[in-house]
Amino acid sequence: MRKKVAIYPGSFDPFTKGHINIIERGVKVFDEIIVAVAHNVSKKTIFTLEERVEIIREIFRNRPEIKVDYFEGLLVEYAKKVGTNIVLRGMRTVSDFEYELQMALSNKTLYPELETVFMVTESMYSHISSSLIKEIVTLGGSVRQMVPEIVEEKLREKLLKR
Ligand code: PNS
Repeated sequence: MRKKVAIYPGSFDPFTKGHINIIERGVKVFDEIIVAVAHNVSKKTIFTLEERVEIIREIFRNRPEIKVDYFEGLLVEYAKKVGTNIVLRGMRTVSDFEYELQMALSNKTLYPELETVFMVTESMYSHISSSLIKEIVTLGGSVRQMVPEIVEEKLREKLLKR
């Protein structure tokens, strides 16, 4: 039987424990997850594309069922390139829903075979947002509960040593 591969796309700036939770649950449903880091030229990010890919690869280095890649341009084109029609997304709050629905429907218009599968974020992670993480670190607080250790270290380096 063909392997069921799902793409888990995102900016991952920074990569959080909420993302890890979705990936860990994702590999129980799919045979392989490709974490696809988006190169968004118009978005100003804390970490470069290379840094984000490197951090996520380090976190999953002993996990052959979790691949880490990056893409530029349309997600649907990337999905066609890797040969899958499944996209996995996490949904935290009701306010996520509108944006996610628009994205899923637009992607389906562009590529009708594409299926977006949503996983509801577990409540202990549902408050995690990248903008709040940045603010907490900048103001000297700890984000240990929200991001992996390596991400917290790198956030401190980036945001405090300026
Ligand atoms: O983590 P994010 O920022 O919510 O992820 C959004 C992402 C990267 C999945 C989305 O912006 C995306 O797919 N970008 C690639 C460009 C694209 O295909 N745009 C049309 C989406 S309808």
